[in-house]
Order: sequence, then C-alpha cells, then structure tokens
Amino acid sequence: MGDARARGLAAVSAAASADELAEVETTLFGRKSVLGQIKQTLGSLDHEHRATVGRALNEAQLALREAHAAAADDLSTAARREQLRSEQLDLTESLAGPGRGHLHLVTQTTERLEDVFVGMGFTVSEGPQAETDWYNFEALNLPAAHPARSMWDTLYLDLGERTELGDGEGGEASNVLLRTHTSPVQIRVMEVQPPPIYTICPGRVFRRDTADASHMPVFHQIEGLVVDRGISFTDLAGTLEEFTSAYFGKAISSRLRPSYFPFTEPSAEFDITCVLCEGSGCQTCGRTGWIELGGCGMVHPNVLSNCGIDFEEWTGFAFGFGIDRLALMRHGIDDLRDMYTNDTRFLAQF
Ligand code: PHE
Repeated sequence: MGDARARGLAAVSAAASADELAEVETTLFGRKSVLGQIKQTLGSLDHEHRATVGRALNEAQLALREAHAAAADDLSTAARREQLRSEQLDLTESLAGPGRGHLHLVTQTTERLEDVFVGMGFTVSEGPQAETDWYNFEALNLPAAHPARSMWDTLYLDLGERTELGDGEGGEASNVLLRTHTSPVQIRVMEVQPPPIYTICPGRVFRRDTADASHMPVFHQIEGLVVDRGISFTDLAGTLEEFTSAYFGKAISSRLRPSYFPFTEPSAEFDITCVLCEGSGCQTCGRTGWIELGGCGMVHPNVLSNCGIDFEEWTGFAFGFGIDRLALMRHGIDDLRDMYTNDTRFLAQF
C-alpha cells in the first residue's frame, strides 16, 4: 500500500494541467484504482487485519486527496496567471520606436506650435468643445441676426429635455453648439484673467462641411490672443512674422491682406510664402506664391468690453489658423482625408 500511495503522489505532482489532473483522479480514487481494489478486499480480511489495513487505507486516501486538492489549486493559479499574461496590454507601445505607434501628425503639429509660441512667451489655454451661443458668437460681436454668422456652418446640439442649458423648447434652435472656431476661448480667458494676456488656444472645432481634399467637418485651430497696454497692428504683424520663420524657417515669410471679422477691427487675412514652391508660384498656391493660413486683427472694442476690459486702457490683437492644413502643407500631403482614415501605412510615415 505504501507503494501505491507513493506512486499516487508522484502521479499527482506530475500532472501539468487540469485535464491531466482529472485523469489522475480516476486512476487514484476510482473503483478500479489500487486503493479501490484494496478497499473491496477489506470484507474478506479477519477483524484484526481489517482494522490495520483500513486505517492505512484511510491515511493513504487522505494523503492523496490532500495532494490532489493542493495540485488543483496550484494549476488553476498558474492558468489564471498565464491568461493574465497573454491578455496583458503593453502600454509602452505608444512610445516611439521601430514598429511602435507614435503621436498622430495633428498632435505632433499642435505640440510643435505650442513649443514655438511658449518660446515666444505665450501661455496655453483651453476651452470646451460644446459652447453656448454667447461664447461662440454673441460675445464675439456677432449678435443673433448678424449676417456674418453665415460664414460658419454651425452644428447645434439638440439637448432634448435639458432645456436649462438651451432654449430648445417649441422647436427653437438650441443655444448650445459645437464650437465653430477657437475664438470663444478668447472670451473665456479674458473673463477670468486680467491683462496683460499673451496666450494661445489650440483645439478641435466643428463645422457642417462635407469632407473633401481640403475640408473636414472636424478639424483643429490654434488661436492667439494678446491684450496689453499700447499694443498696435505692427505688434500683430511682427508676431506673425516671427512665428512664421520660427516654425517654417527663414525662407518662408508672412503677409497680411485686408479682410473682415466681426470680432476684430481692423481685420486681415494672414498668408505665408507657399511652402512647396517657396514663392515662385505653383499649382498648390494658384501661381501666386502665397498660401492663406488664417485670420487675424485687432480685438474689437465691443469684445473687450463684453469681457469687462476697459478698451481705453488696453488694446490687443488676435489670430486664428488651421492646424490640419498647416501639417498638410509642411509634409506635402495632398488630401486632408488621409489624415483621418487611420491607414497605418500612411500614418507611419510621420
Ligand atoms: N475665428 C476665425 C475663423 O475661424 C479666425 C480668426 C481668429 C480671425 C482670430 C480673427 C481673429 O475663421
């Protein structure tokens, strides 16, 4: 019996999986097992022997049961550990390296732009993507019926029951929308921060545009805002020129063309030397040698007073341009949609 017990224990510890252990279990404890057979012979033994053999049998069975339970425990812990190991996510995968992922081109571009402006003494500010009519339009000198609102194809949010945020009752348009530009962040900054202000506000914006090679309904802008004593239009022109050469290099410069925005006066459109032909004229820039980047101007006095800033004492300028298009130009990409179809063969190039 000692022999059967030792062999049983060896078989238990040799089992490498739950299945193997289950097989061992029948050979150890079944009716046909060595111990099972001994048990069946107990009845034919005389009284004295029966007691001794019975006790030894019980002990052997108990020892095997314990060893079996312990082995089952160990095997299930090991299986669980193996499952966790195989399902583990390698969170370091987002770190750059061969075959590893990296930040999206738009994120990389945003971070580079932030670096350039932070280097020029600007802070970075953020605002919400769902805005109220007040921040996106009204406070920016665009009252309800202002014709310039049609410059922005706005996506309004239907908040259903939550009318405390909007006036969405009775089929009226909600006054909560997906921000059409980063300019509302100008208002949010001026509301809480007394001048002098030197800040940029990068972020996602939304317009009801159909996707094509140069438009996406969701895109990114970076806003700049400066409010200080004695700020003039030359400060705006100088800042944009400084930024252009810091970001694109000395071969690229900037120019301003008169334009109109309700929240700036005077307003201008901001062009840079075409990055592809460096000013000599090509298809991309329509043979002009210039590419439009965004809008800018001196902050309108109404906007300053909407934020409680005295426009007799303080003046400022603002600018805003598209980050996605900038990335497109810098890397010579000819279709904006490629940036968002998530084809890793495309994304891996940047
Ligand atoms: N918000 C404007 C746009 O989206 C750009 C702009 C920003 C113009 C700041 C002037 C000043 O078109």
